[in-house]
Amino acid sequence: MWHRSVESAAAEARRTANTYADAVANAWFESVAVAQRRAKRKLPKSVYGALIAGAERGVTLDDNLAAFDELGVRPITAGQPPERDMATEVMGQPMSMPVMISPTGVQAVHPDGELAVARAAAARGVVMGLSSFASKPLEAVVDANPQTFFQIYWAGDRDSMVMRMDRAKAAGAGGLIVTLDWSFVHSRDWGSPKIPQDMKPLTVLKHVPEVAMRPVWLLEWLRTGQLPGLGVPNFNALGEPDPHFFDAYGVWMGTPPATWADIAWLREQWGGPFMVKGIGRPDEARRALDAGATAISVSNHGGNNLDGAPAPIRVLPEIVDVVGDQIEIVMDGGIRRGSDVVKALALGAKAVMIGRAYLWGLAANGQAGVENVLDVLRMGIDSTMLGLGKSSIKELGPGDLVIPDGFSPPAMA
Ligand SMILES: Cc1cc2nc3c(=O)[nH]c(=O)nc-3n(C[C@H](O)[C@H](O)[C@H](O)COP(=O)(O)O)c2cc1C
Repeated sequence: MWHRSVESAAAEARRTANTYADAVANAWFESVAVAQRRAKRKLPKSVYGALIAGAERGVTLDDNLAAFDELGVRPITAGQPPERDMATEVMGQPMSMPVMISPTGVQAVHPDGELAVARAAAARGVVMGLSSFASKPLEAVVDANPQTFFQIYWAGDRDSMVMRMDRAKAAGAGGLIVTLDWSFVHSRDWGSPKIPQDMKPLTVLKHVPEVAMRPVWLLEWLRTGQLPGLGVPNFNALGEPDPHFFDAYGVWMGTPPATWADIAWLREQWGGPFMVKGIGRPDEARRALDAGATAISVSNHGGNNLDGAPAPIRVLPEIVDVVGDQIEIVMDGGIRRGSDVVKALALGAKAVMIGRAYLWGLAANGQAGVENVLDVLRMGIDSTMLGLGKSSIKELGPGDLVIPDGFSPPAMA
């Protein structure tokens, strides 16, 4: 009996090793870091640079990752649960794991853009967040993944915002995300990628040297008979021409910032599940709650906004202390592995959202690359839960972590 089970375990291990070797020989990647390296090799420099983004010195960009490294875990040695449950629910949407797709504009990364991301998210049972600066129409994305939350900015007049929300409702979006943490910081000490103003022949010619160095990326586009565009099809009413990214950005820049009363109005107009993204302080978490939000995302826009803002994982515990029992809390920024997700959950998040991780997967291998990233995260969550001896994500708490002194900034409240 003992021999048989050891033999079958050995055979299983050999099969896993072979599958793993086959996968490695093919397009499968074992970590988000490998996906990032592949994305860097494949994408034109300016496109890769736009995904890295960041602001000013990049202190926040770096801190979003460094903060996770500072947190340790406290594994057990025996008595681990044979099965682990990581299913959860955010804003009424059931999810197979506590990971959601954070909205990003992914022009030029891959010809299938957000459609590939939405299909991958649907295949893996996770929610898709779609940016109002995305490259694919909302209706097609909701078709690909009915569990889609549409993201808007406070941009334009109220009628145009109502128009965008009506369009999202008609398409069947399951929730609205309003992103507030943007202050139009545009400089980076390492220089910003050059985003073309248009795709006219002369502009395309100027980018030829950079693009010629990335033939696989170029071929992917040529096969579809199109070139990367900079249209944002979700900013105007259905049937109207797509505005250029810079025109839409200009409208947003020219709009006076929202007050909390404006956000309450927006929430009222939407009338469904509503997330405020970009919260970094407990007092603002309370205001989002007062404005009627269903959920908040503790976020600093992936380190692309005000430099010097602390990593979301550092401020999460204080926000959870203040509003955790009254509103759903997710966080985004710096998630690169399953153990990062577990750490966020242990500090009180219900789920996380990912940005660059899936963009790198998309660049590396389209829909399969995004599925690969989600699988890497799922396996990482599972092994961390196994190591910590948890049969459900509900059992996670701060006691599972080693939290160094001074990890979080001094409490505000
Ligand atoms: C290239 C890029 C574009 C983004 N575009 C948007 C956007 O259109 N709307 C939005 O709410 N957030 C946007 N974000 C922020 C992400 O939704 C998310 O907050 C951030 O990427 C999380 O950090 P991570 O990349 O470390 O996971 C963008 C981020 C990146 C990197």
